[in-house]
Parts: sequence; structure tokens; C-alpha cells
Amino acid sequence: MDITREPSQRTILIAGAGGHGRVVLDILMHDRATEVLGFLDNNREIIGRRIDGLPVHGTIADLGPIAERLGATGVVIAIGDNGVRRGLARQAERLGVGLASAIHASATIAHNATIGRNVVIAAGTVVCANCQIGDSVILNTGCIIDHQTMIGEGSHICPGVRIAGRVKVEPGVFVGIGATVVPKVTLGCEAIIGAGAVVIEDVPPMATVVGVPAKSVRRAAADEEVAAMLLPARV
Ligand SMILES: CC(C)(COP(=O)(O)OP(=O)(O)OC[C@H]1O[C@@H](n2cnc3c(N)ncnc32)[C@H](O)[C@@H]1OP(=O)(O)O)[C@@H](O)C(=O)NCCC(=O)NCCS
Repeated sequence: MDITREPSQRTILIAGAGGHGRVVLDILMHDRATEVLGFLDNNREIIGRRIDGLPVHGTIADLGPIAERLGATGVVIAIGDNGVRRGLARQAERLGVGLASAIHASATIAHNATIGRNVVIAAGTVVCANCQIGDSVILNTGCIIDHQTMIGEGSHICPGVRIAGRVKVEPGVFVGIGATVVPKVTLGCEAIIGAGAVVIEDVPPMATVVGVPAKSVRRAAADEEVAAMLLPARV
């Protein structure tokens, strides 16, 4: 036993035992203040099995009782799909389970950047001055988010992406691996930016753009369709 180790300040469950869940586990393993209790996953075939030595306790639907039984202080929703990740994060909050972030020890984050909840920041990523990173965002391995840029809730910025200063990324955007975005551009909600694209102008909501410079390959949703999507969900 390592007697020099401080007692863990937080005990965390990881919801999602796929590729992204393993990335999150690796990030949390570098954090001496965190103890990872294990995974939850909706694939019933892996429940009871171990991943990297940690148990898969049950399905994500059972998060509430499992978190209570294990005394978890929080959960990281480690699901790659932007919509599913946002939805599960809100569900966890309704259950009263705290949302935790996973930030790699090698990430560089400006002192005045703001970081939301359930945020994953992977190895080598740089977040510069005055950036605002929303809830349930993934900033994947080695990406650069330059000054005064806002990343909206539930967006995924893939490995090696470079986003310049004063860019506005609306909620639910996917920026593919290695893409570049020039300053002051807006990426509309749920837009998809192809791998390696260079974005030099605003991208409409829900459009897919690829190439250098980036051009649309898929029509954006009509304005009224987007407006309807952004209404609060009926309960
Ligand atoms: C942009 C993307 C989402 C489009 O996927 P899709 O909707 O299935 O589109 P398609 O594969 O049908 O491609 C549509 C057209 O765009 C082209 N295209 C697709 N992705 C492209 C890219 N990244 N760069 C240049 N052209 C691309 C295709 O060749 C095709 O052209 P064509 O109509 O002339 O044949 C996908 O190709 C992509 O780039 N994904 C990024 C994945 C990624 O970064 N993963 C990292 C996870 S950490």
C-alpha cells in the first residue's frame, strides 16, 4: 500500500465502458485525488466483467441506486454521441447524482477559462485565456482552443483540432479530427465538421461541411425546424 497517498477527495463512476470510457478512465488514473469505482454500461453482456481491472456494476439506467450503494460522489458520462451524452447528464442531475469532469494532468488551462460540469479534457489539450467550455463538452487529445472562444454544451472537439480565437461553437457540434477553424466564426448548433476541414466562414445549424476550405455536403435544417428543436422538451 502507498502510505504517501492522500485519501481520495472524490469517488467517481464512469457511465459508458466503450472507447471514450477507457480514455476517461486513463485521465482519472492520473488524478491522485480521485478514486474510480468502476463503470456502468447498457451492454448487459459486459455487466459483472472487469475493464482495466475495474468492475462494470450495472446499466446506466441503474445509476441512481448504484451510486448510492457505492457512495459515489459523482459520475462522468463517457458516451461519444453528443445527444445521448447531454441527455444522460441531465438524467443524472435529476437523480441527484453529481456530474464530475475529467481533466488530464497534462492539459493546459488558462486561469480565467471557465469549465462546465461533465467536461472531459484529454491529454495535451490547451484551453487559452477567457474561453468558456460548456457542460458535457469533450475536448479530445491534443486540441487547441484559443482565446475567448466559447464551446457550447455537449459539443465534441476531436483530437488535434485547432480552433482560433473568438470562435462561437453552439451546442451539440461535432468537429472531426484535425480540423481547423479560423477566428470569429460561428459553428451552428449540431453542425458536423469533417476530419481535416478548414472552416473559414460561419456554418449553419445542422449542416455538414468538409474539405479545404470547408464546403457543405449536407443541407442545414430549415430555420423553423431548428427553432422547434431548440424549444424545451415537453414532459
Ligand atoms: C464529415 C463526415 C462526418 C461525413 O460522413 P457522412 O455523413 O457519412 O458522409 P459521406 O461519407 O457520405 O461523405 C459525403 C461526401 O463528403 C466527402 N467527405 C466525407 N468526409 C470528408 C472529409 N473529412 N474530408 C473531405 N471530404 C469528405 C465524401 O468523399 C463524399 O463525397 P462525394 O459525395 O463526392 O462522394 C465524416 O466523413 C468525417 O469526416 N468524420 C470525422 C470522424 C472523426 O473525426 N472521428 C474522430 C473521433 S475521435
